[in-house]
Amino acid sequence: MTLDQILANFWSTYIELNPSAVDVKRILSGSDPLINDHVAFRTLNIDPFKICQIASPFLTRGYQAKGDYVFTNKKLLAHHFEHPNQIYPKLFISQLQVDLCSSFLQSTMQSLVELQPTIAIDEKFLTAGRWWPIEKSTYDRLLAESEYAAWFYVFGFVPNHFTILVNCLTEITDLVTVNQRLKKHGFKMNTNGGEIKGNSVTGLEQSSTLAYPIPVQFSDQNEPILIPACYYEFAKRHNGFSGFVVESADKIFESTNSSNA
Ligand code: NI
Repeated sequence: MTLDQILANFWSTYIELNPSAVDVKRILSGSDPLINDHVAFRTLNIDPFKICQIASPFLTRGYQAKGDYVFTNKKLLAHHFEHPNQIYPKLFISQLQVDLCSSFLQSTMQSLVELQPTIAIDEKFLTAGRWWPIEKSTYDRLLAESEYAAWFYVFGFVPNHFTILVNCLTEITDLVTVNQRLKKHGFKMNTNGGEIKGNSVTGLEQSSTLAYPIPVQFSDQNEPILIPACYYEFAKRHNGFSGFVVESADKIFESTNSSNA
């Protein structure tokens, strides 16, 4: 698969989980082409699903490892990858440090990834989704400990969010206008840490919608339950800064919190 085909695959998986992304794109850019600043994924530090392992199909396609980020309270670590051809989005991949979590969380995650011991870590892997059965009782227990773990348990390996590079929009030039425009159309923004995270001095301003809730069928429930899936992020970059700001990204993660709804 070419990189363009892989990215098209990311987008089609993403809009199944966040169908409102198509509307957001139209509201902000009309029919103008967009540049994606980054696409984000979530994983676990369990072999063979560690960041360095699942990123390998992208390293062979020209991506290079750039920044490293630590989110102490959320027990996360992240890396970002850039392609020399800037038309391709950065990849932002975070992982839960499960060894720092409860024995319940560790054994749950270990057992679900072991259900597919021979899965190929190839260019399709980051749209593989979830291959394990899910129970609401386990989801609730994970949620009480780590929202990130609970989200991963339900959705698995899929794009968590796409990010529009606001610098590339022609009509809209700032995040205040992006947010106003979306709110006028009924979208709810992530207000954790303020609607706009970061500033021109840190090099990166970010905002995001709240994740789109989709019906999820748990094996121990009769009816599907709405769970926040994926969100859209907006980034404005300054002074050539191409990295990420930990304090801002920490709050952006909270776009999937079920308590936002
Ligand atoms: Ni992001």
